[in-house]
Amino acid sequence: MASMEDGLSLETCVQLNDGNRIPLLGFGVFEVQPGGECERAVSAALETGYRHIDTALVYRNEASVGAAVAQSGIPREDLFITTKTPFELVPDRIREAFQGSLERLQIDYVDLYLIHWPVTDELAPAWETLQDLRSEGRCRSIGVSNFTVPRFDNAFLPRVSTLPAVNQVECHVFNQQCELRRYCESKGIAVEAYSPLTRARRLDDPTVRRIAAECEKSVPQVMIRYLLQQGVVTLARSASPDHIRQNADVFDFSLTPEQMRRLDALNEDMEVQDWHPKGFY
Ligand SMILES: NC(=O)c1ccc[n+]([C@@H]2O[C@H](COP(=O)([O-])OP(=O)(O)OC[C@H]3O[C@@H](n4cnc5c(N)ncnc54)[C@H](OP(=O)(O)O)[C@@H]3O)[C@@H](O)[C@H]2O)c1
Repeated sequence: MASMEDGLSLETCVQLNDGNRIPLLGFGVFEVQPGGECERAVSAALETGYRHIDTALVYRNEASVGAAVAQSGIPREDLFITTKTPFELVPDRIREAFQGSLERLQIDYVDLYLIHWPVTDELAPAWETLQDLRSEGRCRSIGVSNFTVPRFDNAFLPRVSTLPAVNQVECHVFNQQCELRRYCESKGIAVEAYSPLTRARRLDDPTVRRIAAECEKSVPQVMIRYLLQQGVVTLARSASPDHIRQNADVFDFSLTPEQMRRLDALNEDMEVQDWHPKGFY
């Protein structure tokens, strides 16, 4: 898999298969409370220098993201904003939801629009809707989320004409998604890692703690750096301004090949995502 350890920074971008560029480190707002908490978190992230924000219709905080973005005064072209479809993958519903997302975000295009969950085998109509939104200039890139290799092979790729630019999936030290990442790489689909910090469930792991001590960094910083060094677009979430800053302070050290190998050995396909829609595979 790609190695990207040299010269990384908060400005580092990955080129997508449609020619657009996506910042390697992004800020996610799943479960960040709509209103003050989300506005403060996004403002702290933008002040820290993140330019990539990942939200979703179902997080119910697009309006708070929009308010913080508007208040920041950062030029639109310097930001990369992702949002996602409703779970109901019906073309009219997607169009209506997409328009609502744009309005709540106070923007006239999104950088990346994703099918949030593959809740059906009939994905072609939804994908065509995303393709149309892109043709209309209302989103720059389109992609998918929570897609497995069988989902791509059996239900999706045989029925569509354009590849997604990204597949956003759970990915962290304890669930490295090696097969899926190899598959996506072979197709030119970028992988975005969600829950890179295991939703804080494994921050006490002794091996990661030891490596963090060796680097004089925190466990979350090592977990983020581990993915960035492999070129995986990484979406870390926090509601705490201190953690938001800490999670972006990952560019003044690098993990050695030996430390990377010790982290590689921790994979156990552990899932923190405990909700899967009916019919998910
Ligand atoms: N496509 C999908 O289906 C999907 C699913 C899940 C997530 N996502 C995206 O991926 C993003 C990240 O994933 P996630 O939200 O599941 O979880 P995560 O980023 O793995 O973990 C977030 C948790 O880690 C804690 N944390 C963050 N930084 C920390 C630090 N430096 N020290 C200690 N604790 C820290 C946070 O608490 P504090 O707030 O206290 O810092 C929070 O409890 C989401 O926000 C969302 O944008 C997408």
